[in-house]
Amino acid sequence: MEILEKAQEYERKGRNITHLEIGEPTERTNSLIKKAAKQSINSNNSRYSNSLGIQELRDKIATKYKNNHGVSISPDQIVITNGSSAALILSLITLIKPGDSVILVEPYYPCYPQLIKILGGKVRIFKTSVQDKYQVNIKKFSKFINKKDKVLILNSPSNPTGVSQNKDVLKFLSSLKINIISDEIYEGLNYDSDPETFLNYNKNSIVVNGFSKFYSMTGWRLGFLIAPKNLIRGIQKLQQNMYICAPTVSQYAGVGALSINQEEIERLLGSYKKRRDYALSSLRDMGIDVGYSPDSSFYIFADMSNYTDNSLDLSLDILKKVGLGVAPGIDFGPSFNKFIRFSYSSSLKNIQVGFGKMREYIKEYT
Ligand SMILES: Cc1ncc(COP(=O)(O)O)c(C=O)c1O
Repeated sequence: MEILEKAQEYERKGRNITHLEIGEPTERTNSLIKKAAKQSINSNNSRYSNSLGIQELRDKIATKYKNNHGVSISPDQIVITNGSSAALILSLITLIKPGDSVILVEPYYPCYPQLIKILGGKVRIFKTSVQDKYQVNIKKFSKFINKKDKVLILNSPSNPTGVSQNKDVLKFLSSLKINIISDEIYEGLNYDSDPETFLNYNKNSIVVNGFSKFYSMTGWRLGFLIAPKNLIRGIQKLQQNMYICAPTVSQYAGVGALSINQEEIERLLGSYKKRRDYALSSLRDMGIDVGYSPDSSFYIFADMSNYTDNSLDLSLDILKKVGLGVAPGIDFGPSFNKFIRFSYSSSLKNIQVGFGKMREYIKEYT
């Protein structure tokens, strides 16, 4: 937030700022999404929906999971939510009581600890490292987890590392006696790894997903969760009290999104892969070896310990000197204050300009 606000202040003064700090796709909204939304408005399908979401969308999501992952889920296990953010909040309220311990895999999405604290939960941080290629180290985790741990939040593919946990890790985690919330918001944005859902490993987990990233629908506020049937009624009551339902027009837009053909999806994935490859090779040319292969989502997490001990100061300095926004590692956990996150969610052209500025910074100011 601090970086974005500072960047906006510079922009107001007329400076050209390149944004690689934001995890938001800048792809144009697909015409099928727009068409479905317009149709819902024109047919006055814009009132409250059932609090679980419209049946058509829940059916289509169940079909997608069957087709893409071979997993059978009933539409009755799906709740459509206001972005995956609401799905996450509903899941956490469902699973934790004040005082409960929740494990986060560091580096983690910055909202997790805040949400846990709001609910009176206790955060326990399990650190991963570049030496382990940001995979959960099974031996270390076995020693780390204890009986008091109530919930584990898993985020694979990950924000900020761009790493998907491998099958051995998923299998291992599924064997533990702990509730798992699997945040799969970047599911499908896989370039060198297989798209996975934790449901294939443990049907009792809660899976959180949404349309913001894969379908570039951030502002539509559309997400969903998949939960065991016995939890659904409680989650529905929470949804009814907190949000009533997800935006109805967006839900119809989501039906449009799920009709996008494979060719278009391949184009998108090819384009992200090209951007990822460009970003990685630019960093390498600058002498920054990230030491692992970011195989998914649209982030690269780089160790900048040769340049700083304070990632926020470094990020502010990069912004000031060359007009480039990056995300400081400290946001993603206390162990990562020497890191910064680059996002390659914007156009290749923007990324080229951004990494050009980074090259200039390294050359001129370090
Ligand atoms: C890991 C992770 N989970 C959840 C979200 C929230 O996404 P939304 O509420 O737009 O679906 C984000 C957004 O950046 C994210 O990175």
